[in-house]
This record gives sequence, structure tokens and C-alpha cells, in this order.
Amino acid sequence: MAEETMEVLLSAKQIEERIKELAEAISEDYRGNKILVIGVLKGAVIFLSDLVRHLTIPVEIDFMAVSSYGADTNSSGVVRILKDLEQSITDKEVLIVEDIIDTGLTLTYLYENLLRRGPKSLKVVTLLDKPDRRQVSFNPDYCGFKIPDRFVIGYGLDFDENYRHLADLRVLKQ
Ligand code: IMP
Ligand code: MG
Repeated sequence: MAEETMEVLLSAKQIEERIKELAEAISEDYRGNKILVIGVLKGAVIFLSDLVRHLTIPVEIDFMAVSSYGADTNSSGVVRILKDLEQSITDKEVLIVEDIIDTGLTLTYLYENLLRRGPKSLKVVTLLDKPDRRQVSFNPDYCGFKIPDRFVIGYGLDFDENYRHLADLRVLKQ
């Protein structure tokens, strides 16, 4: 698929500006505390790396990989852990960093799983939210952009593992 067949939904510049605002709000809310940010592989990697560089509080970083079965663009609702954390989160201030909330199934599973491990606090920041597609109610603590029900790629997000490297967020033209 040629890049010309995709239209830019959010430019790299727009994303950068919004991430600075999110980082400011997060740094303020956690002032005086250290946080553990947990990136959800692989989609959130680019968002996380830009976000943490604008935080003004002490930060630790870890990653989890979760997957719904199948390679189609619709979530199946079945979530499994492909890679778990390298550390205990008990009594830590934990912030889950996600690329996009779609049906809400992935984060609902992840949130409940991590909550059972006894963190001091557990919050979620997502770069993108597609509220129209929700199957289970899930509200992030911080959200970069609400977007319409379109399949987006770039800035970490993929279609069949491609296009994660694109600097802008794009939609596939239909
Ligand atoms: P949920 O469980 O339906 O909320 O799915 C969230 C996951 O589905 C995200 O972490 C993405 O990996 C993937 N996803 C949902 N919508 C899109 C999209 O528009 N583009 C790329 N990946 C998406
Ligand atoms: Mg993801």
C-alpha cells in the first residue's frame, strides 16, 4: 500500500504538542512521586518514548505484551499475556501507557490483572480513543485525542505489522 493512499489524521507536530500537554498534566498530578510507566507492546512504544522525555518526575519503565487472537483488524475479545513485567508493582504508582482504546477489551483485562497485584495507584494514559467502538465501558485517566471510527496507522500503530514507523497518524482511505 502506497503512503499516498493514506490521509493524515494527526500530524507529527499535532501529536508532539498534545504529548507535551499530557506530560505536563501527569507530572503535576504525580508531583513528589516516582512512577512506573508500563508500555503496552508494541503499539505504545513510540508514544511512550516521546511521553517520558517530557515528564519532570522520576520514572521507571517496563513493558507488557498482550494479544487478542488473530491478525484481523477487529479485536476478538480474547486477551492473553505474551510478555509479563520484570518486576513487582506492589505499592508502586503505576501508569499504563496504551496507543489506542477501541473496544476497551484489552485495557479492561490489563487493568484488572494489574490491579490484583496491589499497586499503590493505577492509572491509564492513551494517545487515542475511539469511543464509538466500545464494547465494555472503559475511561482512561488521560487521553490524547478522541478519534472517529476509522482504522488508523502510524506513530506506533500497525496494519499487519506495517507502518508503525510513520511519524504522522494516518487513516487508510476507503
Ligand atoms: P481494544 O481491546 O479493542 O480496545 O483494542 C486495542 C488494541 O487494538 C490496540 O492496542 C491496538 O493494538 C488495536 N487497535 C485498535 N484500533 C486500531 C487502529 O485503528 N489501528 C491500529 N490498531 C488498532
Ligand atoms: Mg496495542
